[in-house]
Amino acid sequence: MTQLETYIHDNRERFLEELKGWLRIPSISTLPEHANDMRRAAEYAADQLRRNDFARVELIQTQGHPLVYGEWLNAPGKPTLLIYGHYDVQPVDPVELWHSPPFEPTIRDGNIYCRGACDDKGQTMLVFKAIESLLSVDGKLPVNVRVLLEGEEECGGESVEHYVRTYPERLRCDAAFICDTHMPSKEIPALISGLRGMIYTEVEVQGAKSDLHSGSYGGVAPNPLHALAIIISRLKDADGHIHIPGLYDHLRKPTKEEKDFWHHDPLHFDEALLEEMGVSQLSGELEYPPLERIWARPTLEVHGIVGGFVGDGAKTVIPAIAKAKISMRLPPDLKSAEVFQLFERTVKEVAPAGVQVVVRNLHGGEGLLVTPDNPAMHAAADALQEVYGRAPVYIREGGSIPIAALFHEILGAPVVLMGFGLPDDNLHAPNEKYSLDQFYNGIQVVARFLQKMG
Ligand code: BES
Ligand code: MN
Ligand code: MN
Repeated sequence: MTQLETYIHDNRERFLEELKGWLRIPSISTLPEHANDMRRAAEYAADQLRRNDFARVELIQTQGHPLVYGEWLNAPGKPTLLIYGHYDVQPVDPVELWHSPPFEPTIRDGNIYCRGACDDKGQTMLVFKAIESLLSVDGKLPVNVRVLLEGEEECGGESVEHYVRTYPERLRCDAAFICDTHMPSKEIPALISGLRGMIYTEVEVQGAKSDLHSGSYGGVAPNPLHALAIIISRLKDADGHIHIPGLYDHLRKPTKEEKDFWHHDPLHFDEALLEEMGVSQLSGELEYPPLERIWARPTLEVHGIVGGFVGDGAKTVIPAIAKAKISMRLPPDLKSAEVFQLFERTVKEVAPAGVQVVVRNLHGGEGLLVTPDNPAMHAAADALQEVYGRAPVYIREGGSIPIAALFHEILGAPVVLMGFGLPDDNLHAPNEKYSLDQFYNGIQVVARFLQKMG
């Protein structure tokens, strides 16, 4: 074993304990009652960096949750790597479906279960531990490092966007590294070559000035819930086609290689998808292969509808108001601001007469395609090869990490998207987990990645 491997091995229990301490803090960014937990989780991260002798470590106040910044710039002449992670997590409901309490980290079958175990505290902690291991063994890092963590990734990321746009010189770097993605399996390491962007909207429909008796007014009153149902069904049909005029106009034609990969699906993602979801057939645009549908086609999804009476029993009411949360995933060639305009226009066009419709743009972000041909990506690929014994696959991810495109646009730096999550990690769902093997392998990979960049 190298000294580095020995250090990681000897400290594995403590590494895990320090992850557990972070996981116990319920840093749910979207719920206002957790504001104090957000600060505690940010402090916890800052403390990790301070203990690593990072020269400047600070909590940066924002309109929302604090950013955590730390830098170690004692490698003159060496490249600078900007490392990004997020310390916020998703809400835990439905809480009754968790097999152990969502904020009590629990080890079962070689996995750690907890909200944030993977997304993104587990993945961020492994980067911290790679840095710690290098500093302990060598007394220095092979590259200059800036760390930037945010606490609003799961709810829009406004503060970090503002910061990156305002102070790009504080984040100057040769490459950015984001550890917040997956591998297809424990055996197949991956570098992510593309992410989708998104818009997240709220559609509010107002009918009468107040709730109405459905007998006295049924037949003449507008029903906002039914209007919403009509709007939603007009936006996307049963075959998965989105009926927003202009949406598909600017969609780039895929290359032959992309088409072949999607079609032949050499890693057998398709079968895994059925298994992961527990369904017998896939939905959506059947004329496109599933990988294309997940990675390179726009989507439109309804996340929730509220309005009217939903308690036990029966109540004959025509609601005055109904609301729906609707988001769209956007392949990198579609820009979120333009798509929002098309979306808003279409919602208003297809709304039935007699209701007022407001469309709100809650948040959005751009997708990104990365090129594998730069020194940082080569270093990452070599590090993965050494630890996993095989070259990484280059795959896209259907999810979104808006900061990636922003780093690319504002800092002009190549972005390395390398993460150690697995397809069954239950992100955003009950029983989120992270594989301990992946956690420890990830520490090895990231340490070697930094060494190879240096
Ligand atoms: N880590 C995820 C992105 C991701 C999802 C990577 C699935 C790999 C597999 C990230 O935290 C996330 O959830 N992003 C949000 C962004 C949105 C709230 C702007 C998403 O994709 O919904
Ligand atoms: Mn994440
Ligand atoms: Mn997430």
